[in-house]
Amino acid sequence: MARALLLSLLASSVGVLYAQTASGLAPKKYLYLPLGSVKASGWVHDQLIVQTNGLAGHEHEFYDYVAQSDWIGGDSDYSELEEAGVYWFNGMVPHGVLTNDANLKAQTQQFLDYVIDHQDETGWFGPEVNTTKPRFLWARYPFMFGAINIAEYDPSQTTKIVTAMYKFVQLANTMLKNGEGLGDGGWAKTRWEDFVISLQWLYDNHPNGSEDLLLETMKLLKWTGDPWEDVFSEEYFPKEATENLDCPFDVLTWHGVNMAEGLKALPATYRFTHNESDLVRASEGWDLLFQYHGRPSGIYAADEYLAGLEAIRGTELCLVVETMFSGTYLYQVIGDLKYADRVERITYNALPATLTGDMWSRQYLQQQNQIAAKNMTPNPFATDGPYSNVFGLEPNYPCCTVNHPQGWPKFVANSFVTTPDQQSLVHVYLGPFGANTTLANDNAVTVNVDTLYPFGDSLTTTITASKPFIYYVRIPSWVTKGTITMDGAEAQDVSPENGLQAVPVQAGTTKFTLDLPLDITTESRPHGSIAVHRGPLHYAFDISRNTTVLTRNAQQPLAADVQFDATEAWQYAIDPKTLTFNNNPPSSGSLPSPIFDSGLPPFTITATACQINWTVAGDEFASSPPQNPTCVGAAKNITLWPFGSTKLRIGEFPVVDLSSL
Ligand SMILES: *[C@@H]1O[C@H](CO)[C@@H](O)[C@H](O)[C@H]1NC(C)=O
Ligand SMILES: *[C@@H]1O[C@H](CO)[C@@H](O)[C@H](O)[C@H]1NC(C)=O
Ligand SMILES: *[C@@H]1O[C@H](CO)[C@@H](O)[C@H](O)[C@H]1NC(C)=O
Ligand SMILES: *[C@@H]1O[C@H](CO)[C@@H](O)[C@H](O)[C@H]1NC(C)=O
Ligand SMILES: *[C@@H]1O[C@H](CO)[C@@H](O)[C@H](O)[C@H]1NC(C)=O
Ligand SMILES: *[C@@H]1O[C@H](CO)[C@@H](O)[C@H](O)[C@H]1NC(C)=O
Ligand SMILES: *[C@@H]1O[C@H](CO)[C@@H](O)[C@H](O)[C@H]1NC(C)=O
Repeated sequence: MARALLLSLLASSVGVLYAQTASGLAPKKYLYLPLGSVKASGWVHDQLIVQTNGLAGHEHEFYDYVAQSDWIGGDSDYSELEEAGVYWFNGMVPHGVLTNDANLKAQTQQFLDYVIDHQDETGWFGPEVNTTKPRFLWARYPFMFGAINIAEYDPSQTTKIVTAMYKFVQLANTMLKNGEGLGDGGWAKTRWEDFVISLQWLYDNHPNGSEDLLLETMKLLKWTGDPWEDVFSEEYFPKEATENLDCPFDVLTWHGVNMAEGLKALPATYRFTHNESDLVRASEGWDLLFQYHGRPSGIYAADEYLAGLEAIRGTELCLVVETMFSGTYLYQVIGDLKYADRVERITYNALPATLTGDMWSRQYLQQQNQIAAKNMTPNPFATDGPYSNVFGLEPNYPCCTVNHPQGWPKFVANSFVTTPDQQSLVHVYLGPFGANTTLANDNAVTVNVDTLYPFGDSLTTTITASKPFIYYVRIPSWVTKGTITMDGAEAQDVSPENGLQAVPVQAGTTKFTLDLPLDITTESRPHGSIAVHRGPLHYAFDISRNTTVLTRNAQQPLAADVQFDATEAWQYAIDPKTLTFNNNPPSSGSLPSPIFDSGLPPFTITATACQINWTVAGDEFASSPPQNPTCVGAAKNITLWPFGSTKLRIGEFPVVDLSSL
C-alpha cells in the first residue's frame, strides 16, 4: 500500500516536472555569443581578409546573382529556389562584422532594408512580393539567419527585424496549416529545421507572449517535413554510394547539402519534444554518415547524393560549410566533443582544399585523390557534371559561389560560447581568436589567444576579468599528452572533463599556455590504403600542377575558371613506419598569406615511398588505390603537406613495406 502510494506520488511529481519542462524549450548545453563579441586574430584574421579580397568579397560588385538579386528588385535569372541573394547575405553579414568592413556592412544593410521595406501586408518577404510567383517557404530561412545576426550585432535594429519576423511567422503558421509553401519539389520539406532554429531564437530572446505560436509553428514544420529521425536510423541509413539504392523516403533526404542541413533537425526537434531519443538518434546518424561516407579531410562525400568511400567521388563545397554550421549547432545543444573536433578538422582541411589559395576560384566537388581538376572523361561523379571539380566562378551550379562565404566567419563567431548560466566562457575551436563579453554578475572579460594553431602546437591565452570565474578550453580528442602552464608555474598534464579543461581565472590578468604535442596517426581506408593525420591536420601528397585558364568573367577577370593538370608522377605507395614530422616555423613569427596553397604551411610529413603501377581511369582520375602493390621504382622520400594547401593530391595511399631496402 505504502509502496504503491510512494510510486504514485513519484509518478505524479515526475509528471509535474515533465509538464513544467515540457511546456517550453529544452536548454542548450552552451550559448553562442552575439555576433561581434568574438574576433579572429593572426592567421585566421588574415584568412578572412583573403576572403574579402577574393570572390566572396567582390560578388556584390559583379556577380549578377548577387548584384541583381531578385530579392532586392533585380532581374537575376537565378530562380532556382530564389536562394542566391540570401545565401550571400547569410555569409556576408558575419563576414562584414568580423572584418569590420564598412563596404560589406553597407551592402548587407541595404539588402536587409530592402527586404524588410518590401514586406507585404500579408507578412511575406522576398522576390514573390507583388508578383504572381508561387510562394515557397525555404529561401526565407537563410535570410532570417542573416537578419538575426544583424539584430544581435546592432540592437538598434532588433525591433525592426523581430517585428518583420513575427509578421512572417504568423503567415507561415497559417500557410502550413493550409498545406501551403512546401510544394517546391521537396527542398522546403527537407530544410524545415533551419526555420525551427530561427523560431527558437525568437522564443529564447524575444518571446513577446507568442510562445504558443512559435511552438506550434515548430511542430507544424516538423510534422509536414521529412522524418530525419528515420533517415538517420541504422535501419534505413545508406551504407554505400546511393546511386543504385532505393530511398525509402524522398530521395532529397540523401542529397548531400540537405543532409548537411538536416544534421540540425534532431537537436532542434529535441528542444521542443524533450525526447532524449532525438539526441541519441542525432548522434547515431552523425556516426553513420561519417562511417559510410566520411573522408580523412573530415567531411563526407556526396556528388549530389551520398557517395560512399571511394577516394575519387566528390564532396560539394555547400555541404562542407553547412556541415560546419550544423556541427557547431550540435555541439551547442548536446556538448559532445566529437562535433567540435570534426568541425575543426573540416574547417582546417576540407574547406580550404576546395578553393584556390587566393579564394577567387572554387570547386563544386573536391576529391580525396584528385590528380586533375578539369572536364572529366569519363565522369566519376554519379549525378553531377564532368566539370564539377574545375576551380572557377560557378562550376556545375552557382549555389556554392554564394553559399561558401559563411564557412570561415561562422566558424570564428562560434569559437567561443558560454555556459547557460553565463558564468563561464568556453573556448571551443582552437586557433587565434579572441572574445570580449560581459559574463554573469557584470563580469567584464576579454580573452586573446595567440597561436599559429593548427600550424603550431602551442596556444598562449591572456584573459582579463573584473571578477574570478572558471574558464574552459576544449582539449581535442587527438591530444594524448598535452600540458597547461599557468602564469609561469610548473607545467601540468591537461585533465579535461567531457573534453573541456577548467582553468581558474582571477580578477585582473591571467595568462596560461597550452602545449599540445601530437602524434602522427594513420587511418584505414578502402582497398587497404591509408590516410595520414597529425592532430587536426590531414596530410596529402601535393602533386605539382600547371594551370590552364578556361574562361574569365567578362566583368571581373580575376573570377577565372582554371584547369589544373599534374606535372609529376603521383603513383606512390608509402611505408607507414617511415612517417616523420617536420616543422619549419616562420622566422617572422607569422604565416605566409595566403596560407592554403602549395609549399606554404610550416608543417610537413616525410614518407618513404616508391612508385607503383597505379592506373588512371579515363584520362583524369586515379583508379582505386591498388592493394598489395609492388614497387616499380626505387625508394625515395616524398613530402606530405596539409591537405588544405593541396589542390591536386593523393590523400589515400597504397601501403608498401620498404624496411628490407
Ligand atoms: C507593390 O506594387 C505597387 C505598385 O507598383 C506599389 O505601390 C507597392 O508599394 C508595392 N508593394 C510592395 C510591398 O512592394
Ligand atoms: C509584441 O506583442 C505586442 C502585443 O501583442 C505587439 O503589439 C508587438 O507588436 C509585438 N512586438 C513584436 C516585436 O512583435
Ligand atoms: C523519440 O525520438 C525517437 C528518435 O528520434 C523517435 O523514434 C520516437 O518516435 C520519439 N518518441 C516520441 C514519443 O515522439
Ligand atoms: C570590449 O567591448 C567593450 C564594449 O564594446 C569596449 O568598450 C572595450 O573596449 C572592448 N575591450 C577590448 C579589449 O576589446
Ligand atoms: C601541363 O602539363 C601536362 C603534362 O606535362 C602537359 O600535357 C600540358 O600540356 C601542360 N599544360 C600547360 C598549360 O602547360
Ligand atoms: C600495370 O597494370 C596494368 C593494368 O593492370 C597492366 O596492364 C600492366 O602490365 C602493368 N604494368 C606493370 C609494369 O606491371
Ligand atoms: C629518407 O629520409 C630519411 C631521413 O632523412 C633517410 O634516413 C633515408 O635514407 C631517406 N630514404 C631515402 C630512400 O632517400
